[in-house]
Amino acid sequence: MTDDILEIYNSVKVSIDEANSQSDLDEIRVSMLGRKGLITDKLKGMSLITDLEEKKLLGKSINEVKNFIEEQLSSKRSAFSEKDFLESLKKTHVDITLPGRQPSVGAINILTQVEEEIVSIFNSIGFGVAEGFELDDDYHNFEALNIPYYHPARDSHDTFYVSDNRLIRTHTSGMQIRLMKDIKPPIAAISPGKVGRRDAIDAKHSPVFHQVEGFLVDKNVSFNDLKGILELFCQRIFGSRTQIRLRPDFFPFVEPGADLSATCVVCKGVGCKTCGYEGWIELMGAGMIHPNVFEHVGYDPKVYSGLAFGMGVERIAMLKYGITDIRMFYENDISFLKQW
Ligand code: DAH
Repeated sequence: MTDDILEIYNSVKVSIDEANSQSDLDEIRVSMLGRKGLITDKLKGMSLITDLEEKKLLGKSINEVKNFIEEQLSSKRSAFSEKDFLESLKKTHVDITLPGRQPSVGAINILTQVEEEIVSIFNSIGFGVAEGFELDDDYHNFEALNIPYYHPARDSHDTFYVSDNRLIRTHTSGMQIRLMKDIKPPIAAISPGKVGRRDAIDAKHSPVFHQVEGFLVDKNVSFNDLKGILELFCQRIFGSRTQIRLRPDFFPFVEPGADLSATCVVCKGVGCKTCGYEGWIELMGAGMIHPNVFEHVGYDPKVYSGLAFGMGVERIAMLKYGITDIRMFYENDISFLKQW
């Protein structure tokens, strides 16, 4: 290092050590590295040196000092900003006696809870879960479920079409078709999810609601299996004393078809306002999968038989928790939602 560079080094070292504030550091930076700074000057002066070796040595030592200055300035600068910060903390007064704000802790919506309970009951007896799509096509929602375009059963499922062929699914039964096309028997699955129908809104109807569809296909599946599975389900969800009743009903995708009622959850079968003094409450549709459905998915109806059922989640939740108006599920009224 040449004498004058060494001198710069020594003097700048002292001034950085003695610097007391950010502005002292700024001054040092400008006087050394600024446009007219000492170091900048030295660097410029190098162009006058012709001896290559000398030029190289000088350049090296100027750069060393330059790097030294930059490092020292930056470490001192961060020390100062920490000091400034601590001082500013001392100046701003925080009132730690002020009570904090209670964060409001949400909860899982009651509909989701009931859906999860339904799913877990069927899971526990070997049914898998497949959710499917909220938008489906005519084929999966109707045609393959033995509801051709001219069938009057379509009237009760009038729905929201997004195009000629695409609609918001009117039930989750269409998942039967998708799964059966993909998987060979034996198969047991449930399919929970959102569905839509063009129903006018009232205490019992909502254009958007939730269903759980279930089905099982194997050799020798009987109506007895259907009855046993649904009895077990009703007893798990409503209590072990619950009894079920199956009466003939019509759904195009099952034969025979049935509607399932359970003893009223309120009066336990005696008769009350909830069950219209009948003692029974209709819960879901069910039946043995129609051979025409099997034909659509390529299962041989002479070899296999299957059971299917479909229920509304809102209906189960309303009965289980004594909720009298379906609209309450969707209104986001905290006092309602907080109860569960
Ligand atoms: N998909 C029917 C509906 O939404 C419910 C249903 C009835 C499902 C009978 C079934 C069944 O699987 O066997 O009204």
